[in-house]
Amino acid sequence: MNQAFETVSLRINGKTVAVPVPAGRRLSQVLRDDLGMIGTKVGCDAGDCGACTVLLDGAPVCACLTPVGQVGGRAIQTVEGLTDHPLQASFLRHGAAQCGICTPGMLMAGVALLETNPTPTRAEAEDALGGVLCRCTGYAKIIDAIVDHGKTPSGNAPASGRAVGAAIERLDGVPKVSGTEIYGADHTPDGTLLVRVLRAPGAPMAFQFGDLHGWAATHGVMVFTADDIPGENCYGAIPPFADQPALAIAHARLQGEAIALIAGETSRVEALDLDGFPVTWTPMPDGPVHTARPDDTLITGRVLRGDAQTALDDAEHVADVSVATPYVEHAYIEPEAGVAWMEGDTLVIQACTQAPVMDRDDTAKVLGLPPEHVRIIPAAAGGGFGSKLDLSLQPLIGLVTLKTGQPARMVYTRSESMASTTKRHPARMTARAGIDADGRLTGMEFDGDFNTGAYASWGPTVSGRVPVHASGPYYVPHYKAEARAIHSFLPSSGAFRGFGVPQAAIAQEKLFDRLATACDMDRLAFRRLNALQDGQSTPCGQVLQGVGISACLEALAPHWQDALDRAEAANNPGSIIRHGVGVASCWYGCGNTALPNPSTIRLGLTPDGQIILHQGATDIGQGANTVVAQICADALGLAVDRFTLIGPDTAITPDCGKTSASRQTYVTGKAALLAGQALRAQILSLSNMGPDATLSLENDRLVVSDARASRTILLSDMLPDANGYALAAEETYDPPTTPLDENGQGAPYAVYGYGAQIAELAVDTELGTVKVTKITAAHDLGRVINPLLAEGQVQGGIAQGLGMALMEEFIPGRTENLHDYLIPTTGDMPEIETIFVEVPDPEGPLGAKGLGEHVLIPTAPAILNAIRHATGAEITQLPALPHRVLAAIRAAQG
Ligand code: FES
Repeated sequence: MNQAFETVSLRINGKTVAVPVPAGRRLSQVLRDDLGMIGTKVGCDAGDCGACTVLLDGAPVCACLTPVGQVGGRAIQTVEGLTDHPLQASFLRHGAAQCGICTPGMLMAGVALLETNPTPTRAEAEDALGGVLCRCTGYAKIIDAIVDHGKTPSGNAPASGRAVGAAIERLDGVPKVSGTEIYGADHTPDGTLLVRVLRAPGAPMAFQFGDLHGWAATHGVMVFTADDIPGENCYGAIPPFADQPALAIAHARLQGEAIALIAGETSRVEALDLDGFPVTWTPMPDGPVHTARPDDTLITGRVLRGDAQTALDDAEHVADVSVATPYVEHAYIEPEAGVAWMEGDTLVIQACTQAPVMDRDDTAKVLGLPPEHVRIIPAAAGGGFGSKLDLSLQPLIGLVTLKTGQPARMVYTRSESMASTTKRHPARMTARAGIDADGRLTGMEFDGDFNTGAYASWGPTVSGRVPVHASGPYYVPHYKAEARAIHSFLPSSGAFRGFGVPQAAIAQEKLFDRLATACDMDRLAFRRLNALQDGQSTPCGQVLQGVGISACLEALAPHWQDALDRAEAANNPGSIIRHGVGVASCWYGCGNTALPNPSTIRLGLTPDGQIILHQGATDIGQGANTVVAQICADALGLAVDRFTLIGPDTAITPDCGKTSASRQTYVTGKAALLAGQALRAQILSLSNMGPDATLSLENDRLVVSDARASRTILLSDMLPDANGYALAAEETYDPPTTPLDENGQGAPYAVYGYGAQIAELAVDTELGTVKVTKITAAHDLGRVINPLLAEGQVQGGIAQGLGMALMEEFIPGRTENLHDYLIPTTGDMPEIETIFVEVPDPEGPLGAKGLGEHVLIPTAPAILNAIRHATGAEITQLPALPHRVLAAIRAAQG
């Protein structure tokens, strides 16, 4: 249907522009697509996420819900109109932008507030941001930035050798607060074709195409199917288990699976009604999801140590639990997006990702290209949390570009993002554990089925990681744990912050609360008694050093007593509100489980005196760009603000592996440490100076000094290497792990991180609602590289853990949007007190351990244990929605 165009006069950031558009077109489309103002982001097109917030006559509105015909002549303000606004500086100073996709919307909502209320309270700031979602930060730093916006920046340049430990602003922060960051949807070369996907309406279903050529000709577009794929139409995160077609062949295994691509000129493709697409669907009977796996078991992981059965038989007290967890959606604010184009015979893809080299290799395989003819330039990722480790649109836009020679782009809608991408594994778990008369753990059994959905994705990783971690960071001498990844005709489950460990920790920490009760011991004391110590062996038989769980629990001890006292004082007899306190711990092995996962860092000095760091770890908001540079700067001995970063790009930056498994600070950080040390050693050797010499760089003059002498290396006099560097170093680090044997014995990780959290909450025993009032989080980072960014990770992880405990439940076909699928808003977040503990790891760079996934793990079990403390209610099915809480309270009351 043709829409009537009219010319609308828009006043944007003080300038007037006339745009011929249909009056009903969304303001967000006009800004982004018609005017190229990509600072305004789109996360849902439904007014749920607020990412597209702009100001209309000074009031915040969602541009996606605002028809352009209604805004003619009115004052529109976007992030591009903020020039050196103090709030932008405050966002940087407070670390309020992580991935940054929500940042323009947050800034505009904040600016609107400050214009009417220059000194808002935290509560007023929270209220003002209530319509904008952030999935990364937990909101605390955004609120800090708004309340504190008037302060003068304190400077951001630690001296040489002082970068590690400094709370510096993120080095890649400015584009995030100015709206110039390029995400997957933000780059559209001239002549780009728009691509849409035809997806399965249900599963399992067989399909048959009709007259594709006729339909395509009628609509003036092109159609591509699996028949057009020139390579092997199969990919997967773990190559031996690769089972996923880029475009399904003959039948769909999950609702939302891609079966065909439609590409063409943007306005034509946007206007298409795909209801008439020539395809016939036929429901199929349930059967094995993959014929090669007739019982639907993808893989089983197990760890056996000692004789758990006998230990439980002989125990003084034994407790058991059963608990089920649902699908959990990553709900990053940026739906998948990207663009492909040809450069000579190389296919270039710029898309959001956490794993550029894996994307290159899998895309090349699907498209029948040599890997060196595919170049992946990661766009900034507007959140990932694990799901953007998997391929999504890369082979699809790549196919269209390869077939047509034209650039091709795709931006998933919110619903297709939620329907078609991976989730956290739903789990059904049982666990039993026993203690002796002194309360010491003697044995434990854990058994879990993890619904891995239609395709393998990271199911093998989850089933491998869960049995290793299901004991928690405790000494359990006799242990038997098994986790199975089971297929279903449902969304594929993949990586999501913790790879199954958050689910297992819920069962284990509930179990340990019961054991503490059974032996009449304080719950924190029970955990301190059983905490793993240096020199003790894990269930895998690995003897660890640098174990920080006791230090975390010790740090919590005074807070624990205070929290218990607060709850007791607040619990008025007869009140329907019951207050409770819970505690839970975590440990998490950093990096791949018993598999190589090297990172390589290249560092060079150019002849004109620039320090270039090739940092191939994708920074999805967690801060790798900054943290890795801080480590490298101190190893080299030059100030971090002198560094220029070259980010991940498979053509110009060495492989730093995937941003997953909390590995970048540890693994890439260690490679950066080695590269910095190697370049420093070259410089000291060239100048014949000792290890204590200091470096300074003035244009092309590299000066090396100690107390006795000073020598100058003239970089411009040196012959540049093949990469153009006068001096350079490249170092690789691969964690020293060993494979696990058939009983799960070995050294699956070289470095573990530890943590524990206390949750305080109130339960309305008539409504079943739960209000978390405070989380106190103690985490052992080994060495805190950047306290500002680390605290942001803790707050953001807690927000996701709170969502998992209390509200998040993805139901395929029903919650594929952000109004039916709820994630925490500012109003849901409690006060968070963060305590950092530094128990150095002998292997980590400068003692550092990973943090990103650890921080989510204890939150949900601490909350569930606090609900039990408050009311006696045992939640056995997550999330703890009001009706489940009420049922559990009634069950507890008999
Ligand atoms: Fe808010 Fe990532 S920083 S969504």
